[in-house]
Amino acid sequence: MDIRKIGLTMLGVLATGVWAQQPITEAETNALAAIRAQRTDGLITVQPWVQLLDSNRLGVGWITSQPSDGAVEWTQSENGGEWRQAWFSEDGLRQANTAMQRAVIGGFDPAKPIRFRARSRAIESFKPYSVAFGQPTVSQDRSLPARSRPNGAVSFLVFNDIHNRAQLYPLLVEKAGMPVDFAVFNGDVLNDPQTESEVVDNLLMPMAWFAAKSIPCFFLRGNHETRGAFARRLKDYLILPGERYYAAMTFGSARVVFLDTGEDKPDTSKEYSGLVDFDPYIEAQTDWLRREIAGDAFQQATWRLVVMHMPPDWRMDEAKLWHGQRRVNERFAPLLDAGKVTAVISGHTHAPEVVEPCPDASRGFQWPVFIGGAPSLAKATVFRVDADATTLKITRFASDGTVGAERTWKK
Ligand SMILES: [Fe+2]
Repeated sequence: MDIRKIGLTMLGVLATGVWAQQPITEAETNALAAIRAQRTDGLITVQPWVQLLDSNRLGVGWITSQPSDGAVEWTQSENGGEWRQAWFSEDGLRQANTAMQRAVIGGFDPAKPIRFRARSRAIESFKPYSVAFGQPTVSQDRSLPARSRPNGAVSFLVFNDIHNRAQLYPLLVEKAGMPVDFAVFNGDVLNDPQTESEVVDNLLMPMAWFAAKSIPCFFLRGNHETRGAFARRLKDYLILPGERYYAAMTFGSARVVFLDTGEDKPDTSKEYSGLVDFDPYIEAQTDWLRREIAGDAFQQATWRLVVMHMPPDWRMDEAKLWHGQRRVNERFAPLLDAGKVTAVISGHTHAPEVVEPCPDASRGFQWPVFIGGAPSLAKATVFRVDADATTLKITRFASDGTVGAERTWKK
C-alpha cells in the first residue's frame, strides 16, 4: 500500500521511522530473538539462507565480518560422506574478497534430502599471484527435505507486507504449520530500505531463520522494495534466477509464476525524482509472461498459480485506479485469463479478502485473487498452499490462528 492512502497520523509515524515498530508482546519479543539468533560471532556473522532458483537449484547466501572467500559443502549421503563443493562464479571469477557470500547448489537428486554448510576464509592479503587466507570457518549445518515429493505434492507459505516486522514470521509460521517446501516473501516485507542493516535485519536474517527450519525462500519485490537509497543494492545480497526478480518454477503438480508488479505511481511522478523506469520493465515482463503461459511447463501443470504483490482487481473504478494497478489489470490480467490460471495470491492493500472472478466473463479476470492482511500482528496473515495431483487447497491464516479464507479445488 502507498503511504498516501494512510492517514496523517500514520504519516507522522512513518516520518519518524518507527514503521518497523518495536515488539509489544512477549511472543513478538521471543520471535524476534529467534530471528536475530541467525546473527553470530566470528567470521560468519549471518548464518546461511537459501533462495529458490528452480525446483532443482538452490542459492545459498551468508555474510562474513570481513572480505573472504566462500563455498558451500553439501551432501545427500545419509552417513555424511561424499561432501561436494559448490560456489558462485561470474565472468570466470569465483566470488571472493567480499563480505557478501554466495553459492549455487545444483546437480543434486531432488528426491533425496540435502545437507549443507558454508565455509569461508578471511582474505588477509590479495596480491595478483598470491592470496593469503585465514583459518577456515564453517557455518552451522543446515538440511532441507527432498525437493520433490510423491504424487506431485507441494506445500508453501506466502507472506506479504511485513513492513520490517520480522518477528511476524515465526508467529505466523506457527499458525500455518510445518513442514512446507518453501516460503514466498510477496513484497513490502522491507520498508523503503535505506541501509545494509535494514536489509540484513529484515530480509536476510529472516531467510536464515527459515533455512534453520529447513525452508528455502523466494523473495518478490513490492512497491516498498523499489524505494530508498538501498533499493538499487538489493541484488548484491540476493541470488536470483536469471538475475531477475520475476520467475516461474514447477513444483510437483503446480506451476508457480512470480510476478514483479513494480511501483504504484507513473515513472514521471515527482516522488521518484526521475530515477525509475517501470513502464518498459513491465512491458518486458509482459512479453516474458506471454512466452511463459505458452510454454509446456505452464500448459502441462495441473495447477497454475500466480504470486504477485499488487492484486489485479476487476472491481476497481477505472478513474480511481493507480498507475501500477492499472498496469497490472491491463498488462498481466489478460494473460492470466489466456493461461487459465487457477488462482492469484497478492497483498499490497493490507485488507484481507478474496476477489471472486468477474461475473461478466467477457471482461476476463476469471480467477479468484486471495489478498493477505497487514502489517500489525493483529492484522497480519499468511497463506498456506497445499497441492498434489488431485487437490489444491489455499488457506489464509491470521496471527491468532483463525482461518479467514479457505478454498479447495479437485481434479
Ligand atoms: Fe504495496
